[in-house]
Amino acid sequence: MNQGLSLWGWISLILGWGAILGLSLYCMSRVLFGKKKAVDEAVVGVKRERWATRIGLVLAMAGNAIGLGNFLRFPAKAASNGGGAFLIPYFCALILMGVPMMWVEWTIGRHGGAHGHGSTPGMFHVMWKHRVSKYIGAFGVFLPFAIAVYYLFIMAWCLGYAWFSATGRYFGHANQEAMSSFLKGFQGVESNQFFSSLIPVLVFLAICLALNYMFLIRGISRGIELLARYGMPLLFIFGIALVIRVLTLGTPDPSHPEWNIAKGMGFIWNPDLSRLTQGSVWLVAAGQIFFTLSLGQGMIHTYASYVREKEDITLNGLATSSVNEFAEVILGGTIAIPVAVAFFGLAQTQVIAKGGAFDLGFVSLPIIFQRIPLGQLFGSMWFLLLFIAGITTSVAFLQPLIAFLTEEFKITRKRAVNTIFGFLIAAIMFVVVFFKFGVLDELDFWAGTLGIFLFGALEIIVFSWVFGIKKGWEEMHKGADFRIPGVFKFVMKYITPVYMLVILGVWTYQDAIGKFLMKGEPAERHPYLWGARVLLALIIIAVCVMVHKAWKTKTAGEPSA
Ligand code: ALA
Repeated sequence: MNQGLSLWGWISLILGWGAILGLSLYCMSRVLFGKKKAVDEAVVGVKRERWATRIGLVLAMAGNAIGLGNFLRFPAKAASNGGGAFLIPYFCALILMGVPMMWVEWTIGRHGGAHGHGSTPGMFHVMWKHRVSKYIGAFGVFLPFAIAVYYLFIMAWCLGYAWFSATGRYFGHANQEAMSSFLKGFQGVESNQFFSSLIPVLVFLAICLALNYMFLIRGISRGIELLARYGMPLLFIFGIALVIRVLTLGTPDPSHPEWNIAKGMGFIWNPDLSRLTQGSVWLVAAGQIFFTLSLGQGMIHTYASYVREKEDITLNGLATSSVNEFAEVILGGTIAIPVAVAFFGLAQTQVIAKGGAFDLGFVSLPIIFQRIPLGQLFGSMWFLLLFIAGITTSVAFLQPLIAFLTEEFKITRKRAVNTIFGFLIAAIMFVVVFFKFGVLDELDFWAGTLGIFLFGALEIIVFSWVFGIKKGWEEMHKGADFRIPGVFKFVMKYITPVYMLVILGVWTYQDAIGKFLMKGEPAERHPYLWGARVLLALIIIAVCVMVHKAWKTKTAGEPSA
């Protein structure tokens, strides 16, 4: 039985934290204090919206990447896949796939932006003048919108729980059963002593939608950048305060002196090589890297399209990845799991984590907040942190579609945002009303897991093999603040595509077929799960029809294609 951090655990912890902290500080200090270069406006001649400041850009990109995935999904995946056994495949996927793909997506985005395209259909068409390229690019508009549909519902829970923590609404119910029924009542899964209708969750959802609308209607620098400039520092303050609180908890439950924070940290950091032969751990780790870095979702591309043509993307891209890892591994990895181990023990924590990210975040942690001094304060901080992480990501999910409509159809931003929100609200209501039948998980599997990986695999092939790695590498280094080590050229051409194709193949074989046939799903759920699939199909068809129309009627205004 693991008794805290072993010698190898300490070594891994110091190396892991040291590398992430060192890289984040190095990148951010260069972003903040590096020599300012004069940056030319677009050379190709397309005038577009731009980020106002470099720090604003990096914070917005970090906000894009840092989301619920860092604080809810990562701890649950790490704990249910063996803690220390998970981190090795995780770091391999980060280096061989995550960071290279981050650079690739920044490059595709800036290149597309220079040609007047802020969304992936146009960006892919600029890179590859083939009929199908813009339809591959359609994934980068379809996926973020589809993910936003359920992501916003989860954000409403976060905001709701921040309010319930501040007002002490769930205090006095410090057990698993009561907190589980509190959550189910709030989500509308059942009507119970806590909630008898969907109205409370709809109120918080309306607030989330209104805030997203407010920032999106204001545009890139006056909306999204402004949100990131205030939101991200606040997120880090809350995160660091929570980490300090967790690390100073020691052995919080006197009736269980064997449960403590050191044991929780040991669970995450003591390397466990015995599970490395399990393929599933590698798959989950790769999926997590993709989700957390916002890869394969069209949203890094869109943000990068507002970067000036000769402005650095190598350092900025690395800064985005390392700051995201700081939030995920150091903050996300230190808050939820160690605290759960200290209060519930190792075995029970793994059981909770297997129940999913929501049980950990919305059932177990609220129980803990009821058991620690100033629990209302720390509870509000935790849920507000989740909410801020969520909103800086949700605006990024919606911006690709806004860019697509405004640039390819030449409609005003206001009209685009209003139209999108009309459809968004209708789609979210489907998720809210049928949540209890598993529609959220269904959307998350097809769009948020398999879809993003499929798009990512297609995109690295188009970039490295069709556009060509030589051209891509040159494009990446225009105005670069540092040269990426040459070995990554090889990685981007061979390792990343092979890595992704293998994982995609195994996944399709292992999970997608069973999932498609709804194996293990009770029959009464089938119609609703089909409903979720039809919703996804409708969104992708709508995007493809729009792509077709935009190119056919030549409203794309594309100068070079
Ligand atoms: N990267 C985003 C997250 O982690 C999608 O939530």
